Amino acid sequence: MDYMGKIKESLKYIEKRCNKKPKIGLILGSGLGSLGDKIESPTIIPYDQIPNFPISTVEGHKGQLVIGELGDKTVIAMQGRFHYYEGYPLKDVVFPVRVMMSLGIENLIVTNAAGGVDENFSPGDLMIIKDHINFTGENPLIGDNLDDLGPRFVDMTRAYDKELIDLAKKAGDRLDIPLKEGVYMWFTGPTYETPAEIKLAGILGASAVGMSTVPEVIVASHQGVKVLGISCITNMAAGILNKPLNHEEVIETSMMVKEKFEKLVIEILTSM
Ligand code: HPA
Repeated sequence: MDYMGKIKESLKYIEKRCNKKPKIGLILGSGLGSLGDKIESPTIIPYDQIPNFPISTVEGHKGQLVIGELGDKTVIAMQGRFHYYEGYPLKDVVFPVRVMMSLGIENLIVTNAAGGVDENFSPGDLMIIKDHINFTGENPLIGDNLDDLGPRFVDMTRAYDKELIDLAKKAGDRLDIPLKEGVYMWFTGPTYETPAEIKLAGILGASAVGMSTVPEVIVASHQGVKVLGISCITNMAAGILNKPLNHEEVIETSMMVKEKFEKLVIEILTSM
């Protein structure tokens, strides 16, 4: 079956399980998945039940779609995403996003755990992504263009929607949650970066680095879906503090930030 056929088959299965029509999609990153548990009247569909879906392998990720109500909006959330470093081709990494878009979402809120490059950041900060740098040389749109979905050459000038950024900042103000804003740089992982790479990232204009998000944002741009990106700064990137990095620290910090993060996203949803 071709890729479009696979999207349609997955869509058909999800529509059979749930007749809601969410206009907002959420991708919940490392340690931030529990927001999905707050979704009311949920339809929960594990990825392994959906035809053509990859299976998620990372610790701290559940691997299911949750469709229901959050912040008075109907949403569809990915509890757990697919990463390039897991070995999936990028076409698989973005497949669930393609399916959510074919279901009719018009806005996508992407979240992730990221390492802080900007020395004004601290672990536990939330950063609104204003732009990204694709530092991998990879792109999910390489190959035949899916002409039915979007153009061959995609404008990335406003990949992160200005109105959604403003709305997020206002939500932060109302809740007294300070927000940083910055540029997210995508590395493939699964290694954390070297101190030299982080120095380079800073010189190139990155505020934070991570191993996800950019592929999903690229396909959202391809289909004209508006994106809001939020990074949870779980650690200072390599070499900034005089200590080694580890996944436990990433999960620990995201656990600590969880409540603030959840409040913010719900407030944003309410104001959308
Ligand atoms: N680098 C890359 N990805 C990450 C980091 C980091 O320091 N922290 C959380 N995700």
